Amino acid sequence: MDTNDIKAVENTAKENYKKSEPWPDDDVWHSYTYKILHKHIQDYIDELQLKSTQVVLNAGCGKTTYKTCATIIYMDIIEEYINLFENYLVGSVEKIPLQDCSVDCVICVGSVINYVDIQKATAEFSRILKPNGILILEFERSNSAEFLFTKKYAKAVFMQKYQYNNQTHYLWMYDERFVLQLAEFYKLCCNKKYRFHSISSLLFRLGLSEKKAAKYSKFDNWFQPFSYFFAHNEILIFEKDDLS
Ligand SMILES: C[S@@+](CC[C@H](N)C(=O)[O-])C[C@H]1O[C@@H](n2cnc3c(N)ncnc32)[C@H](O)[C@@H]1O
Repeated sequence: MDTNDIKAVENTAKENYKKSEPWPDDDVWHSYTYKILHKHIQDYIDELQLKSTQVVLNAGCGKTTYKTCATIIYMDIIEEYINLFENYLVGSVEKIPLQDCSVDCVICVGSVINYVDIQKATAEFSRILKPNGILILEFERSNSAEFLFTKKYAKAVFMQKYQYNNQTHYLWMYDERFVLQLAEFYKLCCNKKYRFHSISSLLFRLGLSEKKAAKYSKFDNWFQPFSYFFAHNEILIFEKDDLS
């Protein structure tokens, strides 16, 4: 595959996910990722105190759900993941089949954005969000310790090939500042950050196995002040500008 071919990257993601589960049980690193993500996203949703009249889009949801009074629309490119949910949409984050200013909160986590054209997806999130709507975004960073002392470290964007779930995945890795600048362009203002897999990424870079290193993610809260330089993953919370 020509790794600069954005369509080939998306098609590979689709083929891979069609053949497997969103989060394989036997992969320790990704089990930790899922646990950290689910806890933090549920906490953010609880903080928002959404009402029953409000609408949340879980974009690239896989099989993951959250507790809330609001109506959740589950969207993914893989119909088999979502067709048991009451409100589901088969679609891509690059072209979301929803109207402008129709959603109160978008959740897009679990590296979904690393598989797609981030500019198109960010434009779409901004388009469908109501003024003051919230975007909860998680992504894998080029500022990860995994790339320390290589030319890739902190690059705005590059393509990384991973062996994951017995498959070859191609992910666009992003620099944190690049994501923030792009979001700002689309009127999304960041008001919260949580970086994770900090010490675990560093220990992995220093030669510890993925399985052993992953366990150190339990120290992520302590490492927040230093996490900019090492963390592999990040959750960003944005609010859409009230344009009035
Ligand atoms: C690792 S799973 C994460 C699932 C879920 N977001 C979670 O946190 O549990 C990645 C998901 O991204 C979905 N995906 C990949 N490309 C997508 C796209 N262009 N639009 C929507 N979903 C996509 C996959 O089908 C898969 O369900």
